[in-house]
Amino acid sequence: MSPRLTELLNAYDDTLPLSKARTIPSAWYFDPELYDLECSKVFGNTWIYAGRSEQVRERGSYLTIEVAGQPILVSRDDHGVLHAFHNACRHKAAQVMNEPCGRADKLRCRYHGWTYNLQGQLIGTPEFAGVEDFRKEDYFLPAMAVDTHGPFVFVHLGNPKQSLAEFLAPFPEMTASLGVEQLHFAGRREYVLECNWKVFVDNYQDGGYHVNTVHPGLSGALDYAKYRTELFANSTVQISPLKPSDDPTVAKVRTGTHAYYWWIFPNLMVNLYQGVMDINVTLPLGTDRCRVLFDFYFLDVSSPAAKKFNEESIAVAHQVQLEDISVCDEVQRGLRSRSYDTGRFSVKREAGAYYYHQLLARALRG
Ligand code: FES
Ligand SMILES: [Fe+2]
Repeated sequence: MSPRLTELLNAYDDTLPLSKARTIPSAWYFDPELYDLECSKVFGNTWIYAGRSEQVRERGSYLTIEVAGQPILVSRDDHGVLHAFHNACRHKAAQVMNEPCGRADKLRCRYHGWTYNLQGQLIGTPEFAGVEDFRKEDYFLPAMAVDTHGPFVFVHLGNPKQSLAEFLAPFPEMTASLGVEQLHFAGRREYVLECNWKVFVDNYQDGGYHVNTVHPGLSGALDYAKYRTELFANSTVQISPLKPSDDPTVAKVRTGTHAYYWWIFPNLMVNLYQGVMDINVTLPLGTDRCRVLFDFYFLDVSSPAAKKFNEESIAVAHQVQLEDISVCDEVQRGLRSRSYDTGRFSVKREAGAYYYHQLLARALRG
């Protein structure tokens, strides 16, 4: 680690109480060395959301995703066993599979046609006779840990010290009664933001602080006096009772008595209402860019009335997302201002935001 990076990491005090705490230094949002460290110490060393369980439910199905510069492939083999690999062909490093998800009896690299079975074993190498000191078993796709919780697939690019269930606790227990398992995937929206991935998480973690100002259309639905944040080992939840709203727009996305906004370290956000769930995943694309995936789930995805409700609900979420994107992009430019170094937290609202910075600092130094 360079002396400069060590200095940058040491510049943050994560031991202060919330009332005295500061946000992480602005350089953590655009420094290339810090970014590389984050890719290995944060994204390379924890359970990371990779996709939907339904994408790899059937034998012979697979999904792909790129997380912090690492192409990843998850497959379910003919025996029903789930596997995850680095999606980089052992020949010349093309991505073995390119589609976001699909079905295949084998994994065939489109570049020169090397094939792997669904367990990642190299089984076909066209025109490779005469190559010395070459054994197919030395060129299997490198595997990584994979597991599922309900509708979510997670991978771990390092050596997991905790099982997925241990890592997620208490999210599974606390959401068990909300009927997540009964929900069906209805659609994905993707956005590319001109900001560091952490800016999007900061925006999410501010305890509703920006809702009245940035999302006036939605602000009437949440009972802010009773909004609260709870902190757990690797996650936070913001819970808000819902107020009855006459606004038909609001009614499209806020159903039931409470809204639950879960964040799971480092980049997964799960928004839960009665019969409605959407998840947001922010994937770094460099220091100043990220890709945000929104996956929408509803109880009913087949009746015409439900489909109409679901489409309108997704449209409202899209509008909210556009409002968030505009502030997130603006914040990234502000973070690069010579005038700005660190900010402060609202004690009333931003406990989750500080906890996020603490977990991040500990992961980077760990
Ligand atoms: S890179 Fe995959 S077969 Fe050549
Ligand atoms: Fe927002």
